[in-house]
Amino acid sequence: MSRITKSWTLLPNSAIINKCSLINVNMWSKQALQELAREKFRDYKLIVVSNREPYIHQYQGGRIECLQPASGMATALDPLMRACGGVWVAHGSGDADRHAPGAMGRTPVPPEAPLYMLRRVWLSKELENGYYYGLANGGLWPLCHVAFRRPVFHREHWEAYRRVNEIFAQAVLEEAGDDPAFVFIQDYHLGLLPRLLKNGNPSLVVAQFWHIPWPNRETFRAFPWKEDFLDGLLGNDLLGFHLRYHCQNFLDTVDRAIEARVDQERYEVTLRGKVTAVRPFPISIDFAEHASTAAGAAVDNEMEHWRRALDLGQMRIGLGIDRIDYTKGIPERLRSLDLFLERCPEHRGRLVFVQIGVPSRLRVAEYKRLGEEIEALVSEINTKWSSGAWRPILFLKTHLGPAQMMALHRLADFCMVSSLHDGMNLVAKEYVASRFDENGMLILSEFTGAARELTDAILVNPFDLDTCADAIRRALELPPEERRRRMRRMRAVVADNNVYRWAAKILAALARIEAPQPRPPRMDAAARQNGGQLCAGVATSARPACT
Ligand code: F6P
Repeated sequence: MSRITKSWTLLPNSAIINKCSLINVNMWSKQALQELAREKFRDYKLIVVSNREPYIHQYQGGRIECLQPASGMATALDPLMRACGGVWVAHGSGDADRHAPGAMGRTPVPPEAPLYMLRRVWLSKELENGYYYGLANGGLWPLCHVAFRRPVFHREHWEAYRRVNEIFAQAVLEEAGDDPAFVFIQDYHLGLLPRLLKNGNPSLVVAQFWHIPWPNRETFRAFPWKEDFLDGLLGNDLLGFHLRYHCQNFLDTVDRAIEARVDQERYEVTLRGKVTAVRPFPISIDFAEHASTAAGAAVDNEMEHWRRALDLGQMRIGLGIDRIDYTKGIPERLRSLDLFLERCPEHRGRLVFVQIGVPSRLRVAEYKRLGEEIEALVSEINTKWSSGAWRPILFLKTHLGPAQMMALHRLADFCMVSSLHDGMNLVAKEYVASRFDENGMLILSEFTGAARELTDAILVNPFDLDTCADAIRRALELPPEERRRRMRRMRAVVADNNVYRWAAKILAALARIEAPQPRPPRMDAAARQNGGQLCAGVATSARPACT
């Protein structure tokens, strides 16, 4: 690959300028990203790999329905795939996935107007338990987040994790075939995949984005299989984190844990002669698309629907939207609301806090307990403060579609994101993108990646309930002009640092990396078994018709 020498044409998005009065015409757009991808990666097949699939087929009353999951990662990557086309390899977790349109586990998506191919990987319940619920979410998730939950490690979970990474590798190598391909891996579920891919086909360009924080080296020490895991990650040509701080943690971890050369100046690791570049890329959303949808009639209708269904009347509204996950700080948020009501009697009977909780990872005991804790807390606070028909908290355990979610954004006087630790947190960016009226206020945990960009939010330490209670009061009482000024600035930041810029920066960084070695001759089965390596290019698949 050659170096990027050209500066890219940044196309204005008229929808945003008209509807949302944003004046930044130099934002990265879908078209600009397509231009970059075409210019630099014309001959490369794009293969995105993640555990979570961007579309899930499920049975609903005997019919098959296609849903988009509550996943910041999937929300961010889908527009990129829509723009560039290619194949997305992911775990088929929906009960109707096997009966989705298409053949051989490959289904064109988005279903209404396909733009890329979704290739599903099938896992047994046993493997899913060990790999996803066990190692990934019972071990790595608490290890990487400072939420004071103890990680749990079991050898059989690690074995399942290894096996699943091999299954993913097989699927990706099949998809790549003999064509030049750029494989873009997502997250902590697939830490061994980069090395497996490079072993199977050294000519692949492999990058990975780690969507959660990377802990400091003392914390990472507890991971029993750290050497193998780091070796797996160092199969990447490029490894991305949200923040420079996480890159630094990763470099320190490698420096301490294995025999590799760490270049702190260039942010590179060299292992057995192979270089992995480590870089920060703060992820974002498709601001333009989001903002124009939020301003549409479907969202107006949903607002009416919510007003009636929740009997909101003239109430002021606070909002939280999260997966039910202990890193999101939901109990802490509810306790601070309780404190706020105690301190601010004038707001009693006038504010409703709508908390949307999307059920998540229920087979991990900690998540089940958390769901019960939240239910109990909501009932305790509601019993304490209720008067007549008024209850301060409406807790809805549900998954929302985009229009329903945007309608709540637009209704809310403030949105509260109180994560105890979060790689980025796209709920914060989505809320801001929905507020084309430049109204509303964001209360944001300083322990989210988003807090580095959205400095006009009311920033809080979510462990400090007093400050959070004060923040709720401030959000409600901020003079309208100041609210507008802050919201305008936050919107400009998200519009500018949108998901296309994120993807473009990753592509630009990859384009600066030297082309990997050409593909070696195919190995026969015996050689493969001897080397313990995966076979490369088992079947050459054609480019999907939908790209
Ligand atoms: O943002 C981190 C992340 O793990 C994403 O990769 C994932 O899609 C999201 O959280 C939701 O988690 P899950 O896929 O386990 O439901």
